[in-house]
Amino acid sequence: MIQKPKGTADILPGQVEIWQYIESTAREILHNYRFFEIRTPMFESFELFSRGVGETTDVITKEMYDFYDKGDRHIALKPEGTAPIARAFVENKLYAPEEVKPYKVYYMGPMFRYERPQSGRQRQFNQLGVEVFGGENAATDVETIALAIDILQALGVSNYKLVINSLGSEESRQTYRQALIDYLEPYYDQLSEDSQTRLHQNPLRVLDSKDPKDIEIVEGAPSILDALSEDSKERFQLVQELLTRLKIPFEIDANMVRGLDYYQETIFEIMTDAKDFGAQSTIVGGGNYDGLVNELSDGKQSVPGFGFAIGIERLILLMQAQGVDLPESHPLDVYVVNFGEEASKYATQITQRVRHAGFSCDRDFFDRKAKKQFKEADKLGADLVITIGDQEITDNQIQVKNMSSGKQESFSFEDLTADFSKIYEKMK
Ligand code: HAM
Repeated sequence: MIQKPKGTADILPGQVEIWQYIESTAREILHNYRFFEIRTPMFESFELFSRGVGETTDVITKEMYDFYDKGDRHIALKPEGTAPIARAFVENKLYAPEEVKPYKVYYMGPMFRYERPQSGRQRQFNQLGVEVFGGENAATDVETIALAIDILQALGVSNYKLVINSLGSEESRQTYRQALIDYLEPYYDQLSEDSQTRLHQNPLRVLDSKDPKDIEIVEGAPSILDALSEDSKERFQLVQELLTRLKIPFEIDANMVRGLDYYQETIFEIMTDAKDFGAQSTIVGGGNYDGLVNELSDGKQSVPGFGFAIGIERLILLMQAQGVDLPESHPLDVYVVNFGEEASKYATQITQRVRHAGFSCDRDFFDRKAKKQFKEADKLGADLVITIGDQEITDNQIQVKNMSSGKQESFSFEDLTADFSKIYEKMK
């Protein structure tokens, strides 16, 4: 039997409702913040990610789903949304003077990373992300962080914490990078294997190693916050001040770095401290990427960027762990119980008319016993049940029953199929 690939999931009816609820709740908030949806291809050139996300990141070195297509192009399924959207921003000249500024977009959809699957970590997973181009200052950082929090709150999620840090500008990061290497080198032999590899390739990643020995060594490392330029310090101060004004609690973690190389200045993560949530506790990750558009436009455009992505699978795990209530979805207005060949034909007509009048409607197809059909109507939560058999056809008196009040009335076939909303009103 063929099974789905490792690290993927089928989202079945009964489960998909929570996805739709998240999507519609988020869309409403996003539109209030004046973000508009963007959709980019599922696959891109591999080079977009190696240049955009960073040659030495795990995402590029270990986790890409890449292949050569029949035209020998090096293609990759997208592991994340920011680089593709920055590419679309440059390619479609969305920086042009006549475009809205800042340019604010959101996206929802699958991303692909060849990771070791576990709860909250898949090879095909979904993100709800936003990107702001041309926002320029700390107010954009804070507004966007506040948006992430508004979405979580609207979904009823609690028990999360916001953690922020600043990576400073490209230049100050280079200086800090060297200071960090100088500090870590004497400990080389004691570092974990991963951190040894990262030491010269991507030393900042050593800071957020989960290895206990690495953590101990890192404790004495110089802080990135001390290496910030005056401008970056000011910006980070302002971010903190604005968060405080909005009464958004936060923690600063100077060792937090993100797994993708395009970040500068303000970065943030929202994680849960809910117990039993396992290792995959980061629900939202994001930050500032002022150099990305420059990189992808070959130095021709310099537009700052800020964004985040929420991992939807992790969000759902959290919502379920916290027992968040979902509104009832897709209620059934009408069920048509029918007996016999002739009644089945009438049922086809009635069902279609009811649907065309704007009500959700279903029917029995299997000529089941009355009890079974009513049981089914009950299971589906039908408001009204229409019953039709040979007798009803002969008398032209078709029965309609309100399932919760028990109220019953009969109508002619003509009345039932003329304007069902009148009947629905009468029977409610
Ligand atoms: P990221 O931190 O790599 O950032 O991913 C964001 C979120 O996606 C994570 O916090 C997590 O919830 C979810 N996620 C990542 N990998 C997996 C996985 N294998 N399985 C399940 N969930 C996963 C980005 O992707 C950036 N593009 C975010 C961003 C947008 N930064 C600026 N703009």
